[in-house]
Amino acid sequence: MARRLALITGASAGIGAAFARIYAAHGYDVALTARRADKLTALAEDISLRAGVETLTIAADLADPAAPDAILAELAAHGRQVDALVNNAGYGLTGLFAETDWHDQKDFIQVMVTAPSELAHRVVAGMVERRFGRIVNVASLAGLMPGAAGHTLYAASKSYLVRFSQSLHLETANTGVHVSALCPGFTYSEFHDVNGTRDLVTRSTPGWLWLGADEVAANGYEAAEANRPVCVPGAPNKAIAVLAKLLPDEWLLALLASQGGRFRNTRA
Ligand SMILES: NC(=O)c1ccc[n+]([C@@H]2O[C@H](COP(=O)([O-])OP(=O)(O)OC[C@H]3O[C@@H](n4cnc5c(N)ncnc54)[C@H](OP(=O)(O)O)[C@@H]3O)[C@@H](O)[C@H]2O)c1
Repeated sequence: MARRLALITGASAGIGAAFARIYAAHGYDVALTARRADKLTALAEDISLRAGVETLTIAADLADPAAPDAILAELAAHGRQVDALVNNAGYGLTGLFAETDWHDQKDFIQVMVTAPSELAHRVVAGMVERRFGRIVNVASLAGLMPGAAGHTLYAASKSYLVRFSQSLHLETANTGVHVSALCPGFTYSEFHDVNGTRDLVTRSTPGWLWLGADEVAANGYEAAEANRPVCVPGAPNKAIAVLAKLLPDEWLLALLASQGGRFRNTRA
């Protein structure tokens, strides 16, 4: 029997690269996509050597509305269909909403909301037909609480992914397709280097609040296998998620108003 294929977006670094290794270790062929082709190639070579599975790399910028179609067309040209989709690619757009360029916000929505929705939409019917599928949407703990000032659409986009995952999880019940939202807290990856907040968050957060990308991805993989709709990795993050559910939004907003600046760069 041909091996199953996992398509992982944002596979050139951090949590996405960890997901690629995990799916390969579980016997999946992996299709890796992100913008940096060199990183994808290096990871693909390493995965092939270690896991002996087939790897495909597709360099694509998800800010381009044509990217999801191009990625799936490339897979189809190789005669492959997607059995597991990890919508992981993402970044933080710093600054206050009014002070940022709309084109940057538009690209952000395309990468964080539209592309993952389109990829899921295009693969889910085939998964249901074949009675097997896994969709992991990498959201964030930030999507489980009210938004803070700065990085304005980040919490909104992650909240969208949580709600989207829950709905699709219900729609695919008893079809063999599992849908999960993964909600990491602070995770060691390139994320805070890319958005320029590494020093800020390192100063403001204790080490015990941070998890490694491998542990976060392993939690996501297990949640999808167990068909849990929402997964929050790590005990401290789980406690924060529970508090965010229990406390009134007014209290949380007051907390975010006083503390949010410790984690978010509000300069444009
Ligand atoms: N790190 C954290 O503390 C944390 C916490 C909660 C949630 N998350 C979420 O976890 C996910 C993975 O982030 P990470 O922490 O692993 O960060 P990371 O190390 O910076 O990895 C981000 C990945 O997304 C890709 N990417 C970014 N923009 C893209 C674009 N326009 N088109 C295609 N690919 C793009 C990057 O690849 P290229 O640059 O090569 O394109 C990279 O592979 C994100 O959705 C993030 O929001 C992270």
